[in-house]
Amino acid sequence: MRLSNSLLVHPGLAILFATSSLAHSPSQVLLPKPTGKYHVGLSIAELIDSSRTQPFLQDIEPIKLMISVFYPVSHEHHTSPVPYMPPETALIEDNYLSSDIYGLASPNGTFEKVALQLVDGEHLTSKDSCEEEQEYPLIIFMPGEGTTRLFYSQIASTIASKGYTVVTIDAPYDVDVVQYTDGSFAFFNFTLWNSTDQETALAIANLAVETRMGDVSFVLDSLSNKTFAQSLIPNLPSSGLNTTHTAMFGHSLGGVTAYSILEVEDRILGGLNMDGSLVGPGVFGSPNGTSKPFMLMGHAGHNLTSDDPFPVSSWAIAWSELTGWKRDIEVADTGHYDFSDYPIVFEKLGITPTNQTILDKVLIGSMKGERALETVTTYVGAFLDFVIRGKSSDLLDGPVKEFPEVTFNY
Ligand SMILES: *[C@@H]1O[C@H](CO)[C@@H](O)[C@H](O)[C@H]1NC(C)=O
Ligand SMILES: *[C@@H]1O[C@H](CO)[C@@H](O)[C@H](O)[C@H]1NC(C)=O
Ligand SMILES: *[C@@H]1O[C@H](CO)[C@@H](O)[C@H](O)[C@H]1NC(C)=O
Ligand SMILES: *[C@@H]1O[C@H](CO)[C@@H](O)[C@H](O)[C@H]1NC(C)=O
Ligand SMILES: *[C@@H]1O[C@H](CO)[C@@H](O)[C@H](O)[C@H]1NC(C)=O
Ligand SMILES: *[C@@H]1O[C@H](CO)[C@@H](O)[C@H](O)[C@H]1NC(C)=O
Ligand SMILES: *[C@@H]1O[C@H](CO)[C@@H](O)[C@H](O)[C@H]1NC(C)=O
Ligand SMILES: *[C@@H]1O[C@H](CO)[C@@H](O)[C@H](O)[C@H]1NC(C)=O
Repeated sequence: MRLSNSLLVHPGLAILFATSSLAHSPSQVLLPKPTGKYHVGLSIAELIDSSRTQPFLQDIEPIKLMISVFYPVSHEHHTSPVPYMPPETALIEDNYLSSDIYGLASPNGTFEKVALQLVDGEHLTSKDSCEEEQEYPLIIFMPGEGTTRLFYSQIASTIASKGYTVVTIDAPYDVDVVQYTDGSFAFFNFTLWNSTDQETALAIANLAVETRMGDVSFVLDSLSNKTFAQSLIPNLPSSGLNTTHTAMFGHSLGGVTAYSILEVEDRILGGLNMDGSLVGPGVFGSPNGTSKPFMLMGHAGHNLTSDDPFPVSSWAIAWSELTGWKRDIEVADTGHYDFSDYPIVFEKLGITPTNQTILDKVLIGSMKGERALETVTTYVGAFLDFVIRGKSSDLLDGPVKEFPEVTFNY
């Protein structure tokens, strides 16, 4: 099994892995091919921001980020299986998710079997840029606290297949595990999660969100370097990536970041928060709000009036501060992690968590994995088409018969 090759080193900026395909083996568990108009390629890179230090580490270290870049490729290029995560991280997830917290039947070797169906980018050139549409707008995604960005790769690749360049960014020490190019790891700093005192918890969440906001701006700066962008996206048109007209979506703390960043980052035109209680800058303390488009997407029972665990709903506070286009939708039969790849990955593996509660929240609801994936990516796609391409859609204007699970609280 070949996992990664062509280690490219960009001094001071980035180390790049070109991902490469696996030979198909009978025990492999394939996730669905992205369903949009395009096939999708993937590059993974490490970025080092020497201008900032890592706040969730005792030692003084620059911030080191891992990103995945999902880019559209025309359908003429065939897909093949690409590992869902490196084997070392997969083993960590086997152990983490089979612990009491989740109670998943995931013995060693479980997540290593999972594969995405993507195009190997190795032989692509700028001539392989897909025909009519030259430009695939840049979209930023960030994961929830405690969950690696890799558990959102199926969602990200499905959005990319709709004609977007989707960059997922990990938040080191604030997600469970980040594996770097040299094989080292950043593990979750539990002070982020364990504080029982609400004031401390909010202060830590604020620091986490501020750090993530800086991470996003740094990634946008890095991707504005055309040479670097071309090294990640082999079929990138010569105009490069447009880093000044982007949008962001995220799950949980990643969704919070997509809210808080709007007022400070001109390059992000709109944001979508999947099920995150808004704990960051601009909510409690300084509710500045935004006039940019913003959408809240909640699991069953998560809406403007019910937003655990806070006594005052952060969604209600934020809602009153949103002065532009805004929506609040709720998806029936879902839990907090239906806005990640957990449902589709667990379903394909044939495993179910025995502990359906995590941090007082329903982990995943009764909705089927493929349906959760379809629902999430359809609504995220409609929002991005609206913000970036100015396309209106019935999906954003109220309930539609194709998605009876989705209700509007506006
Ligand atoms: C965890 O983060 C806190 C800051 O919130 C820091 O004070 C602490 O030293 C970190 N813990 C470790 C083990 O690095
Ligand atoms: C599973 O992997 C973990 C971590 O490497 C190891 O500690 C444990 O012994 C392994 N369990 C089995 C049953 O092999
Ligand atoms: C935080 O909680 C986790 C999981 O509940 C536990 O394993 C860990 O020991 C706790 N850490 C601290 C520093 O309290
Ligand atoms: C742009 O990226 C290339 C390739 O990573 C690197 O060699 C170059 O130094 C970067 N330029 C700037 C101005 O950072
Ligand atoms: C980015 O996109 C916007 C909107 O389409 C356009 O006005 C701007 O010129 C583009 N910038 C670059 C560098 O292509
Ligand atoms: C939020 O609003 C206050 C005044 O109401 C202002 O001083 C502050 O700069 C604003 N913050 C941001 C991030 O816009
Ligand atoms: C919000 O969710 C709560 C349950 O958590 C529910 O009782 C209430 O009816 C919901 N509100 C709306 C407007 O749907
Ligand atoms: C489920 O996880 C929670 C922590 O989120 C823990 O307190 C509880 O004991 C777990 N339940 C079981 C049955 O393991």
